[in-house]
Amino acid sequence: MSNIVIIGAQWGDEGKGKIIDILSKDADYVVRYQGGNNAGHTVVVGTDKIILHLIPSGILHKNKICVIGNGVVIDPEALISEIEYLKKRNIDVSNNLRISDKAHVIFPYHKILDKLREEKFRKIKIGTTGKGIGPCYTDKFARGGIRIGDLLNKRLFKDKLKCNVEEKNAIFSKVYKHKIYRFDKIYQQYLDFVNIIKPYICDCSVLLNEAIRKKKKILFEGAQGTLLDVDHGTYPFVTSSNSTAGGACVGSGVGPTRINKAIGIVKAYTTRVGEGPFPTEFSAPLMKKIRTIGKEFGATTGRPRRCGWFDALVVKHAVAVNGLDGIVVTKLDVLDQMPKLKICRGYKYKGKLYEHFPSDIEVLWKAKPVYEEWPGWLQDTTKTKKFSKLPVNARKYLKRLSQLVGAKVEMVSIGSERNQTLFV
Ligand code: GDP
Ligand code: IMO
Ligand code: MG
Repeated sequence: MSNIVIIGAQWGDEGKGKIIDILSKDADYVVRYQGGNNAGHTVVVGTDKIILHLIPSGILHKNKICVIGNGVVIDPEALISEIEYLKKRNIDVSNNLRISDKAHVIFPYHKILDKLREEKFRKIKIGTTGKGIGPCYTDKFARGGIRIGDLLNKRLFKDKLKCNVEEKNAIFSKVYKHKIYRFDKIYQQYLDFVNIIKPYICDCSVLLNEAIRKKKKILFEGAQGTLLDVDHGTYPFVTSSNSTAGGACVGSGVGPTRINKAIGIVKAYTTRVGEGPFPTEFSAPLMKKIRTIGKEFGATTGRPRRCGWFDALVVKHAVAVNGLDGIVVTKLDVLDQMPKLKICRGYKYKGKLYEHFPSDIEVLWKAKPVYEEWPGWLQDTTKTKKFSKLPVNARKYLKRLSQLVGAKVEMVSIGSERNQTLFV
């Protein structure tokens, strides 16, 4: 295996955690490069279900270095509780976790701002996770943010935090009529946090480039999905980072010539959490059926996920903007009981046929999907041991998805467990 970036090819929750865990076996380093604890990546091992938010999904394998890159935004309180959560499951991170000194820090005022903007200010509700992601990235790009490394320099941290608290308090009191924050309390709390995470902090770009020089294998773990990317997604109904493959370079300090392959994780149907257009969304009865079978509830917020038919335009867009070499189709088993399946291969709006994913949000809200219908397989696939043993109609469905999106299927997932994975 070479250096590979794994991304979500739809609106997130495609099953990245499961696939990263499997591929980690052959990797030396696993790197998160964007997003924060808005992500929820599930790994199932036997009866144990582990949900990771910030720590890379390679952490269940011993001796893999797990890196939280500079492009990630870190809530130290959430990170410390994730370390504790893993410790309780006998997973000790002390030797194999690294955190970039350049990653930006989420403060309590970011989380409050996230909620206040959603509730009181915006005409358009995005349905964020409320973890402070957007406001933290806003500060980063406005050049007022505070980085993990800044927390180690008490005087610098004090000055930066004072400015931030002053500015945010003015916004809280004047714009939102919300209570203000006390500088001292946050300052002390974050000094305590950094004392705990200090041993993990390093220059991760140096670490990874040195690893590349030694021919070590690196897996880059995307969070969210292509359609949630701030540039290539359904803006403004997106997250605030570049979840696409290109984000792996800027978010880790590794150059594009060092990444050899990009793989997209694709659910056999489509889901989305939060607000925003979703052209192939099911009507109520089918929504309920697939949500129940697929257990489609958010791993971070527990919110019910919206479900719909497979949208080839979405994944074709992901193949293009990520330069995907191949795809992994997950949750095929969820469709086992469906007599008929629909695949969207275009949108129609005002007499025009769209064969590429449009950026115009109005088209996305109002377009009618153009579907083709395929017969289901009405057979249990969860115990299948070989790709060639999948029901004929399931293989036909996969072949058609692959043709429409323009990428080959490399793996198929038929359950949440490690051994429910077929290599093509
Ligand atoms: P991620 O954010 O992309 O890592 O995905 P999530 O963990 O948020 O959501 C995927 C969910 O589907 C998790 O509960 C997984 O355990 C589960 N899952 C993954 N692959 C499969 C599969 O092939 N079949 C079924 N039934 N569940 C799966
Ligand atoms: P993983 O990595 C699914 C969605 C939120 C909301 C929008 C913006 O598990 O696939 P944010 O809190 O990021 O500002 O919210 O993005 N969202 C996700 N949806 N999976 C995720 O992560 C998500 N992370 C954010 O629901 O619509
Ligand atoms: Mg998830």
